[in-house]
Amino acid sequence: MLDIYTLGEDVLREKTQRVTEFDSGLAILIDAMFETMQEADGIGLAAPQIGVSKRFFVVDTRRPNEQIAFINPEIIETSHEVGTYEEGCLSIPGVYYDIVRPLSVTIQAQDIHGKAFTLKATDLLARVIQHEYDHLNGTLFIDRMEDDAREKLVKAYNRKHKKRR
Ligand code: NI
Repeated sequence: MLDIYTLGEDVLREKTQRVTEFDSGLAILIDAMFETMQEADGIGLAAPQIGVSKRFFVVDTRRPNEQIAFINPEIIETSHEVGTYEEGCLSIPGVYYDIVRPLSVTIQAQDIHGKAFTLKATDLLARVIQHEYDHLNGTLFIDRMEDDAREKLVKAYNRKHKKRR
């Protein structure tokens, strides 16, 4: 099981580097990410969340054919239609909030062998992809909240998760 980094860790705010080696190390890491995410009851996990500042993430919506690793992804199209959905994040445990995002996206990425693919996603899959993609740019879902709401929530979160010295 991998450690999941949480709010306050610098790696969550860094801009990530492209993956260049599609070796067994990457495959093993991605397997471990799927396991860690499923164990934690998450539906998405991005590399910075396990302390790796690289451009990849995994998703598993628990729906058929929606257990996917995205390496060096680019979202190339988003719908004009937006929707609201209550998001959470394994790096900000206990915090949930309604976030507005496009309802569908088209994403290009590579698989663990380096093979390129394009996927048009809707519904929950589109939602998770956008949330995880944000992680690769150092963006967390709380950044997409209104300022007042975010400040309140982060204060409450910090009180609850005060680091022991
Ligand atoms: Ni997240």
